[in-house]
Amino acid sequence: MAHAFLLFLLFPYILSTNIHACKQTERSSLLSFASTLSSPPLNWTSLDCCRWKGITCDQDGWVTRLLLPSKGLKGGISPFSLANLTHLTHLNLSHNSLYASLETQFFFSLNQLEILDLSYNRLFGELPLSLPSSNIRTVDLSSNHFIGAIPSSFFQQASNLTSFNVSNNSFTGLLDFSSNLFNGDLAPGLGKCYELQVFRANHNNLSGFLPEDIYNATKLEEIALALNSLHGAISDKIVNLTNLAILDLSFNDFGSELPLNLGKLSKLKFVTLDFNNLEGSLPPSLMNCTNLVELRLGNNNLEGDISVLDFSRLSQLTKLDLRFNNFTGTVPVSLYSCRFLKAIRLAENHLEGQIQAEILSLKFLSLLSFGYNRFTNLTGAMKILMGCKSLHTLCLSGSFVGEGMPSDDDMVDFDGFQNLRVLGLVRSNLTGQIPFWLSKLKNLEILAMGFNQITGPIPSWLGTLPRLFYISLSHNRISGKFPQQLCRLPRLLHEPIASQGVNYEFELPVFSSNCFRIIANQNFLSQKLDFVPATIDLSTNNIVGDIPIEIGQLQLLHTLGLDSNNFSGVIPDQISNLRNLEVLNLSMNHLSGIIPSSLASLNFLKEFNVSYNNLEGSIPTGTQLQSFEAFAFEGNPKLCGAPLPRCESNKGIDADNKNNKDVHNGLHQLPWLYIFIVLGFIVGFWGVCGSLIINKTWRYAYFRFIDNLQGRVYVMVTLRINMMKKRLRG
Ligand SMILES: *[C@@H]1O[C@H](CO)[C@@H](O)[C@H](O)[C@H]1NC(C)=O
Ligand SMILES: *[C@@H]1O[C@H](CO)[C@@H](O)[C@H](O)[C@H]1NC(C)=O
Ligand SMILES: *[C@@H]1O[C@H](CO)[C@@H](O)[C@H](O)[C@H]1NC(C)=O
Ligand SMILES: *[C@@H]1O[C@H](CO)[C@@H](O)[C@H](O)[C@H]1NC(C)=O
Ligand SMILES: *[C@@H]1O[C@H](CO)[C@@H](O)[C@H](O)[C@H]1NC(C)=O
Ligand SMILES: *[C@@H]1O[C@H](CO)[C@@H](O)[C@H](O)[C@H]1NC(C)=O
Ligand SMILES: *[C@@H]1O[C@H](CO)[C@@H](O)[C@H](O)[C@H]1NC(C)=O
Ligand SMILES: *[C@@H]1O[C@H](CO)[C@@H](O)[C@H](O)[C@H]1NC(C)=O
Ligand SMILES: *[C@@H]1O[C@H](CO)[C@@H](O)[C@H](O)[C@H]1NC(C)=O
Ligand SMILES: *[C@@H]1O[C@H](CO)[C@@H](O)[C@H](O)[C@H]1NC(C)=O
Ligand SMILES: *[C@@H]1O[C@H](CO)[C@@H](O)[C@H](O)[C@H]1NC(C)=O
Ligand SMILES: *[C@@H]1O[C@H](CO)[C@@H](O)[C@H](O)[C@H]1NC(C)=O
Repeated sequence: MAHAFLLFLLFPYILSTNIHACKQTERSSLLSFASTLSSPPLNWTSLDCCRWKGITCDQDGWVTRLLLPSKGLKGGISPFSLANLTHLTHLNLSHNSLYASLETQFFFSLNQLEILDLSYNRLFGELPLSLPSSNIRTVDLSSNHFIGAIPSSFFQQASNLTSFNVSNNSFTGLLDFSSNLFNGDLAPGLGKCYELQVFRANHNNLSGFLPEDIYNATKLEEIALALNSLHGAISDKIVNLTNLAILDLSFNDFGSELPLNLGKLSKLKFVTLDFNNLEGSLPPSLMNCTNLVELRLGNNNLEGDISVLDFSRLSQLTKLDLRFNNFTGTVPVSLYSCRFLKAIRLAENHLEGQIQAEILSLKFLSLLSFGYNRFTNLTGAMKILMGCKSLHTLCLSGSFVGEGMPSDDDMVDFDGFQNLRVLGLVRSNLTGQIPFWLSKLKNLEILAMGFNQITGPIPSWLGTLPRLFYISLSHNRISGKFPQQLCRLPRLLHEPIASQGVNYEFELPVFSSNCFRIIANQNFLSQKLDFVPATIDLSTNNIVGDIPIEIGQLQLLHTLGLDSNNFSGVIPDQISNLRNLEVLNLSMNHLSGIIPSSLASLNFLKEFNVSYNNLEGSIPTGTQLQSFEAFAFEGNPKLCGAPLPRCESNKGIDADNKNNKDVHNGLHQLPWLYIFIVLGFIVGFWGVCGSLIINKTWRYAYFRFIDNLQGRVYVMVTLRINMMKKRLRG
């Protein structure tokens, strides 16, 4: 009885140990895995390994799960240590500091594995030739130090793969299909991923053709291969991918015509094919893609009369970008029936005709870029467009050539453009004066009207526009003086207030060529307003008189261009208050007197030019001004000293000697200075590039060169995050 009672008491224990009886081979495997870890202890001491922390067994006592994420594990993984865990389905060692190479043995015999997560460790070397198991569903090897290419055989058995993340490694190419194609073989791998829904490999060094077998992965909903070097045609077979919603092949070298039946893909939402070499006309079938949200085909060689296209079925369309192609004809009125349109960019084509009043039905229209076409009737266009309540950005540069600037008489009772932030009317040879109705654009931030034939003075009310920070009126025939009121532009006086929309994001990336200058390198795209430098550019006009001393109030100014005018008087000392100035051009005027030595304190100057004036005396020495070439100073017969020839008068010689001494001292410091610069450069540059290579999640980045005191610093700004995910999901 007592024995029976004891048995009864022990029964649950016996039952449970029977269920979880740990296999000794597996126990020793786990111990050998633990033995190569340096810290902290896993406390794996008891006999039954199924009860160990992080371990799960099945009914028969086989270890099925090894889950030790974020346990602070450090050290190596010996190649064979996990090889005996033949029933393992889940392996999650993410967020530790494991240091190992995944040699083939690591996977050896893990042929039940379904989930593999080794992300955020220090794993290195190349990937093994193939994934261990045909059951594998999830693979996350991201944020490690893997190198090389991912062999296409890697996916060979992985027909159930649904999620694959290898981002933030140092791979040189994600899927290397090229050699397979050269042999005329179809690349094994992708086409076998029948369940694949998302194929993303933006920004790699992928080259060659799009592998044919991609068209067999009929569950694909997204193909995103932007920023690679793929070429060839987009095959007609793409119509087999009936689930495709996102097609992003932008920034590649795809050529030839678009598949005629592309429009049969009725689920298409986002088509992004800009920056390729596509030819021919738009397939009319595209107008059947009623779910289309964005159609971006800019920077190709597309052509054809767009007036024959019927957009009326594209009721979901929000963005249309056909920039920089060879399209002809007029804008079809049917486009204006796409009532959710937020951005239309047709710039740089050969379109003609007038802007029609039907455009007013686009209640959400925020960006309109029609420049560099052959549109006519600017006054009519402005009268219509001022009624677009949501319009933020209007770029009409390079169209309406030779017409008159819409005058106040044309725009009687003007009340419109309530939300306009950007107005670009550059390179249109517009005549007339700067009209007063512009003073009512209280939200205007950017006014670009350079390269026209505008006459008359700069109106003083320009200085009252509360948000204006970019004025370009260069290359016109503007006369009169520099209005003092311009020196009170609120946006240029103090640090910007966040609510002023500093981080306004354009609906489409903007380019310098369209409207205005952006700081970003042309190769990269900017979609943000704060990449436009604060600018007053009045160069190449007929402006007379002094440069007002009040200019020193515009402390946030980046660019001041007053060159090629008739300015006289001296260079005001107060310019040295413009601590953010990067470009200062005063050349080709009648400025006299000396170069104020205070100018040397403008640490950020990248461009400087005072040539062809009547300046005199010696150039302030031992300063940054010496880093500019002689041409920046030439044409001032009485100016002397480095980088121009030495000064000759007695006084000059004295000054020169002193300067030489300074330079001499400077030279003594130079090696150290250069060492610091070079060190700073190496650290900065490799810091930047290293992280660019490692961190593939950064899509757009640009380097900005800033002269910080004497050392040069590279500052990198990331514009977009999280676009580089290499992820396959099914
Ligand atoms: C795996 O099992 C074999 C015997 O089946 C044994 O020789 C080997 O040492 C085990 N490996 C580990 C890492 O425990
Ligand atoms: C191991 O045991 C020690 C002491 O009980 C404890 O501090 C530590 O957190 C345990 N380690 C793990 C991984 O549970
Ligand atoms: C691995 O474990 C971490 C932490 O619990 C979890 O966030 C992650 O989703 C797991 N990985 C997989 C693939 O389930
Ligand atoms: C894929 O998954 C399904 C369902 O989970 C399973 O029945 C099938 O056996 C798996 N295929 C392979 C090749 O493992
Ligand atoms: C892929 O991995 C990266 C880096 O580890 C992570 O930031 C990203 O969210 C992951 N992507 C997905 C879809 O889980
Ligand atoms: C990239 O990987 C490194 C090293 O594992 C990690 O520190 C960093 O947080 C990762 N970056 C992202 C965006 O996941
Ligand atoms: C695509 O699928 C078809 C039929 O299912 C098959 O005949 C063909 O070989 C496959 N093509 C590739 C490239 O896998
Ligand atoms: C595409 O679909 C057609 C019929 O719908 C089929 O004949 C053809 O084999 C498919 N092509 C591929 C590459 O799967
Ligand atoms: C568009 O769809 C309609 C009906 O679905 C069809 O009759 C027409 O041929 C299609 N047009 C094109 C150009 O594919
Ligand atoms: C437009 O066509 C002309 C020749 O007809 C060609 O020279 C030019 O490069 C094309 N422009 C674009 C943007 O494709
Ligand atoms: C210009 O456009 C306006 C408004 O659409 C229109 O009334 C006017 O007739 C047009 N002028 C010319 C010359 O076409
Ligand atoms: C504008 O006028 C100038 C001088 O008359 C001329 O050289 C230039 O080609 C014109 N620009 C355009 C875009 O027509």
